[in-house]
Amino acid sequence: MTAQLISTTSTPINLDLKKLPQHVAIIMDGNGRWAKQRGLPRIEGHRKGANTLKEILRTCKNWGIKTLTAYAFSTENWGRPLTEVGFLMGLFERLLRQELQEMKEEGVRIRFIGDLSPLPSSLQQEIHYSMTETQHNQTINFNVAINYGSRGEIVKACRHIAEKVAQGELAPESINEDLISQYLYTSSSPDPDLLIRTSGEMRLSNFLLWQMAYTEIYVTDTFWPDFDVQQFHKAVATYQKRDRRFGKIV
Ligand code: IPE
Ligand code: IPE
Ligand code: MG
Repeated sequence: MTAQLISTTSTPINLDLKKLPQHVAIIMDGNGRWAKQRGLPRIEGHRKGANTLKEILRTCKNWGIKTLTAYAFSTENWGRPLTEVGFLMGLFERLLRQELQEMKEEGVRIRFIGDLSPLPSSLQQEIHYSMTETQHNQTINFNVAINYGSRGEIVKACRHIAEKVAQGELAPESINEDLISQYLYTSSSPDPDLLIRTSGEMRLSNFLLWQMAYTEIYVTDTFWPDFDVQQFHKAVATYQKRDRRFGKIV
């Protein structure tokens, strides 16, 4: 299949449009190794990786995939050298500023999941501005996970629920799976249908543990900066061949 046939702008060839994943989650991994392979500083991998994300977001939008959730920075990533963390924070802020107009025009609704409070205040401002400015957009939901950790998210939800119970606002019997889902950062999104992880790592790295109970997982050896529309097409085609049983016999 040629690159042209499955370009970002056309509808996808050889895919069943009725069976597209409604929600795709991505662990964008391998930026550092991509740079190292080329003798470049790790930050060059992050810079190039940002372009990949733009391309994949546009592809999802054009193909009619309703939600894309991208893991950009984990709660564990604070353990990296200060220079890399600082670069990433600056990159997020610059990207938001540069891309906001286009997201507005293309109907992208951007949201952030994670604990935003420790982020630099200028980034927090940009985050809140971009969420407000795109809140009425409906073409695609774009969730960016920054300072996100799934275990921390679940702890936060438990505390919140426990407070409600302590205050007599919630009966313990009313705590069920749906209620817990409502207390997570992802309350407005359905669970992901497809998870893509680049760079060959076969782990979840504290990403959407609750939400991905029945998500189909696709791992590619490609480093995130080299991931492209053709490879995204392959991931979706593979997903469409999976037999999703949800524990039942079909
Ligand atoms: C993913 O690429 C981006 C972030 C975690 C911010 P990495 O930076 O983890 O790249 P590798 O895994 O070291 O190659
Ligand atoms: C997961 O990648 C986090 C993001 C992609 C933001 P990491 O590179 O941090 O994960 P590990 O360390 O390989 O598990
Ligand atoms: Mg990594």
